[in-house]
Amino acid sequence: MKIENPNPIQWQFSERAQQLQSSFIREILKITQRPEIISFAGGLPSPATFPVDVMKAAYDKVLSQTGKVALQYGPTDGYGPLREWIANSLSTEGSRILPEQILMTSGSQQALDLLGKVLIDEGSRVLVETPSYLGALQAFSVYRPEFASVETDEHGLVPSSIDAIAHGARLLYALPNFQNPTGRSLSLERRQELVETCARLGLPLIEDDPYGTLSYRGEPMPKMVAMNPDGVIYMGSFSKVLTPGIRLGYVCAPLPLVRRLELAKQAADLHTAQLTQMVVHEVVKDGFLDQHIPTIRKLYGDQCQVMLDAMTEHFPSGVTWTRPEGGMFIWVTLPKSVDAMKLLDQSLAARVAFVPGAPFYANEPETNTLRLSFVTVPPERIREGIAILGKLIKDML
Ligand SMILES: Cc1ncc(COP(=O)(O)O)c(C=O)c1O
Repeated sequence: MKIENPNPIQWQFSERAQQLQSSFIREILKITQRPEIISFAGGLPSPATFPVDVMKAAYDKVLSQTGKVALQYGPTDGYGPLREWIANSLSTEGSRILPEQILMTSGSQQALDLLGKVLIDEGSRVLVETPSYLGALQAFSVYRPEFASVETDEHGLVPSSIDAIAHGARLLYALPNFQNPTGRSLSLERRQELVETCARLGLPLIEDDPYGTLSYRGEPMPKMVAMNPDGVIYMGSFSKVLTPGIRLGYVCAPLPLVRRLELAKQAADLHTAQLTQMVVHEVVKDGFLDQHIPTIRKLYGDQCQVMLDAMTEHFPSGVTWTRPEGGMFIWVTLPKSVDAMKLLDQSLAARVAFVPGAPFYANEPETNTLRLSFVTVPPERIREGIAILGKLIKDML
């Protein structure tokens, strides 16, 4: 029997819920899923890199050998052997990370939410780079902080600018490697200065690092967590090195904080999928990533170069852009008179998509910026799309 509603519910959403906004990128992604669009908008890894057969074999093995455990509820902090593997991979000669410091999360996006929940009160000061990862701004915003923007130059975050704005801040959120959205990386000197500054100020430093291993040339830079495990909270993800669909990430934090995060996670979703964690452990435990990651680096590095060459050929003078040495993004600065939002309207009509830069700023957006991703677009389509964009920019000057 279906019950009538003589008194239809007048939904009264919490103030927090009323403030929720959809991420601009996810809105654009709805449009860009149409096959005729050349999309430089997504932050999606290339499906060509997904190790489908390896995952399939691991699922088969885990389910046939330990299926009853894998399909059961698991501990909130995560699957022990995987936490141990992660702790070992983060440990260096000078700094030992304990498995107890690792909390497995449903994607590293969940770690951002949990960190917000545990560290931010309404009005708390939160320091972020200018620009910063949109998903972090979105996750922290739920807890209504006051964002203060740390100065950035062409080499990334400027540590000497922190003192002036750090008063009473709860945390500083930084992306030292192939930053989303700019593709920039911090030099070793800046990393050291940043860690030292935060340590001196007693300011928790979040190091969000989903792209660190995706360097096209040379070895990855030292992690800041290795410089100060008592003051740096490290976030990692399997999304960009295996596949994002499994939603598996982790946070490595000093023990008092990790215990709080665990309580927040218990309340949120009890634990991260046990089956997924066991499968990922099966995949990574014997060194699969050591052979797999170089194939991702090669693909992304080659496609990045195709885009950079096409930009040199087609973009008019007055436009500048970053030259990333890893990761998935190039950041473009247009002449001041060109609004990237207006350019997007025209470029969508011409079947090319990108993400305007404004949503990546916590305060005072630079509207003449935009983010391009090259990883899911084949070279000939990259050249075609960049030629179209170049012409549209010229027409707007
Ligand atoms: C900088 C950064 N942090 C965190 C995430 C979230 O990743 P995931 O939840 O897939 O681990 C992303 C995703 O693009 C990102 O770019």
